[in-house]
Parts: sequence; C-alpha cells; structure tokens
Amino acid sequence: MNELNIVKFVNGLPKAELHLHIEGTFEPELMFEIAQRNQIALPYDSVEAIRNAYQFSNLQDFLDIYYAGASVLIHEQDFYDLTWAYLQKVHAENVVHVEIFFDPQTHTERGVAFETVIKGIHAALEAGKSKLNISYKLIMSYLRHLDEASAFETLKSSLPYKEWIFGVGLDSSEMGNPPSKFKHVFEASAKEGYKLFAHGGEEGPPEYIWEALDLLKIDRLDHGNRCLEDSLLVQELANRKMGLTVCPLSNLKLKVVKDMHEHPLKKMMDLGLLVTINSDDPAYFGGYMNDNFIAVIDALYLSKSDICKLAKNGFEASFLTEEEKKFWQSQIKEYYNQF
Ligand code: ADE
Ligand code: ZN
Repeated sequence: MNELNIVKFVNGLPKAELHLHIEGTFEPELMFEIAQRNQIALPYDSVEAIRNAYQFSNLQDFLDIYYAGASVLIHEQDFYDLTWAYLQKVHAENVVHVEIFFDPQTHTERGVAFETVIKGIHAALEAGKSKLNISYKLIMSYLRHLDEASAFETLKSSLPYKEWIFGVGLDSSEMGNPPSKFKHVFEASAKEGYKLFAHGGEEGPPEYIWEALDLLKIDRLDHGNRCLEDSLLVQELANRKMGLTVCPLSNLKLKVVKDMHEHPLKKMMDLGLLVTINSDDPAYFGGYMNDNFIAVIDALYLSKSDICKLAKNGFEASFLTEEEKKFWQSQIKEYYNQF
C-alpha cells in the first residue's frame, strides 16, 4: 500500500482506545478559551507559544507542564468541554470504544470537588454514547507521586459515583514510586468492585511490572515497554494474556525511545504479547489514534495484517463483553478483506 492508502486504511479501521488521560487532550486553543472565561492568566501569550513549550526530555518534564495546563479547569462545564472535544476528535478517526483515565487528585488538590470533575466528564461520555455511538469505561487514576493516604481519600470520594467508575489506575512520576506503595488502596479498590490498572515499565524497571502483577493484581498494564529486559516477565505477561497499552508518540516525545525505528512494538507483537496502540496525552505528544498507528506503520514497516492485528488487540484487551469484542473483530476482518 502507498502512503495515501495506508492513511485511508487506518482511518476507516474501527478502533478502541485504552490508554488516554483526558487531561492530556487539552488542546492549547481550548486551554486559552477556558483560561479566559475563568479569568486565569496563562504563562504564555499565544497558542503557538504553548505548543513551542512542548519539548520534553523525560516524563517529569512533561508532567510539570501537564499539571500546569490542567489547573485552568474549574467548573463542571470545563470538564464537559474537554471530554466532548476529545470524543468529537476521535469520532472523526473511527474510534468506537474508549476506556479513559482522569486524575481526580490533580483537581481536588486545588480545591475543585471530585463531584464537579466527574459530573462534567460523565455527562460528556454519555453524550458521546448517544450522539456519536462511542461506548466507554471511565477509570480514575491515583497519582503515584502522592501518598497512599491521599489515594484512600480519593477512593472514598469516588464511592457516591461508583456506578460511573469502572476501575482505578496508577499514573504520574514512576521512578521512586513503586506499585508496592499502593498495595493497600488497590486491595480496597478491588473490594469496591473496581477493575485495576497501572502504568508500569514506561521509565521504571521490570521489577515495578512484577509488583503491579503480583502485589496490585492488575487487570491490564499501561505501557510495559521495559518488560523486554526480563524474559521471564515477558513469558508471564504472554501466558496471562495481559493487555499492554503501548503509546508510540508518547514514547518518542518522552524519550522512552530515541527514534521511532527503535520502538519495541513489533518485537512485543512477535513475542506474543497482547499489545495495543494508544495516544496517552495526544494534545501534548502530537497525535491522536490514527497518527500513532501511522507513526509505527511507517517506522516499523508493519503489514496490513499487522495493522489489523493491532486493531483487533485493542478490542481483545478492552472490557467490552465477549459478544461486543467478536462483533468489532469481525468488522475488522471484513474491512481487511474488502480494502
Ligand atoms: N499522566 C499522564 N500521562 C502519563 C504518562 N505517560 N505516564 C505517567 N503518568 C501520566
Ligand atoms: Zn499514561
């Protein structure tokens, strides 16, 4: 396929996004608009100045700017607008199912109520379901640079909205904040019926992934790149059919990989891992789902069948029902045969 056909092919493919921080979809244009209506001064005088500031040498560099951006979100409408903008964007890319994170503590730490945040996000997700036919699961992430007591408070705040929340995740600064720090709150979260997710092996060592598996008892792993340093771990992840939500453009921007040609995605596929493609924080990393697909297809010379396998994996590793998974996987097969 030539480049034009690849773009067309990826566009038309039904896709599921499983690793997306809603705060990471905050485009500079909307950031300016919301900052203005909330009368908050941004340290930038234009949209271009914001975009120019998006040069990161590691995860922490990015997180500092990401938390600063999120600080203009105050009202329920702000969270609605943020989420709705994301859904419209991915709808145009034929993303039909999303399992997205939000970071309650990023907002509650600034005095914005849990209720305000979740009501805005939930209302937009419901609108996405009815108007755009996008199914969804919502996951609240604990910030790992904060202590476990703060995560416990977040868990408590979430309970009145339990019906709206599918699971808990673990994100933010990985190094120095191992999963073991959150063992008790993950146990308590599971008792409330939440599914369990954690970032692991983005910058952190394979030991952190082992801890996420054995101590946190996660249902899916976010990133997971560094599992490749431990062949026993790779075997374990493959045996468990553990979903790994890989984020190519994020990995490039945060210098997890030096060059997209060196991205481990294809190696991970060949080792039998259930890897999926996701955008992580697309407003900061230069692309949504389709751009992430195209970036790895070009750099790793992926075939049409590799591409379909990745799209199918997105549904396989999702928490849709078996019936829904089968439906989308057969749609992909049909699309493959027709294209
Ligand atoms: N929060 C938002 N994006 C993140 C990432 N890629 N890693 C850890 N925490 C995050
Ligand atoms: Zn992430």
